[in-house]
Amino acid sequence: MIKRVAIFVSGGGSNMRVLVEDMIGDHPARPCVVVSNNPAAGGIAWAKTQNIPTIVVDHRPYGADRAAFEAALTQALAPHAPDIICLAGFMRKLTQGFTDAWAGRMINIHPSLLPKYKGLNTHARALEAGDTAHGCTVHEVTAALDDGPILGQASIAIEDRDTPDTLAARILVQEHRLYPQVLRRFAAGDRSPLFLQG
Ligand code: GRF
Repeated sequence: MIKRVAIFVSGGGSNMRVLVEDMIGDHPARPCVVVSNNPAAGGIAWAKTQNIPTIVVDHRPYGADRAAFEAALTQALAPHAPDIICLAGFMRKLTQGFTDAWAGRMINIHPSLLPKYKGLNTHARALEAGDTAHGCTVHEVTAALDDGPILGQASIAIEDRDTPDTLAARILVQEHRLYPQVLRRFAAGDRSPLFLQG
């Protein structure tokens, strides 16, 4: 059975795009909807050009009431009947109510070699720490931020001339390699971690 994938984005959605472009042919999944909390997300505009259904639930009217925001997301998602959620630059923390409902069926990409550097500013933090390697991780989403079983990592060597910006750009290339490969495996039921070297 082909799996139905909902992709959540908050920004440009370059990871979303490579996931969508990979879901053709013998891929075990297809995109069913692109979801954003940000009405201006470039990812939403691109999904529309591909005739992929879109959902926008602006988080701002909900203020601090994350549960109400997530209830609205859940309601809007239901008709699309996703089997898997891929978070791809979705910049809202999800509460345990939502993560529990999707346990084992929701994955995320994070720009660090987890468990290092959960949260934001990962590239600057890797440089400040004097790390010699950096990378990205795809993991199952649990209630704890940027935690959960690791499904894949891609790593690169940090160079002397790297800045947070050059590192972000080089890691993004790795994200685009890693995420589609992990989604293919995950949708086929393979949760063994994949390790790539940049
Ligand atoms: C990526 O670096 C991703 O790892 C992080 O947010 C960024 C999203 O980029 N969580 P894009 O929207 O996929 O281009």
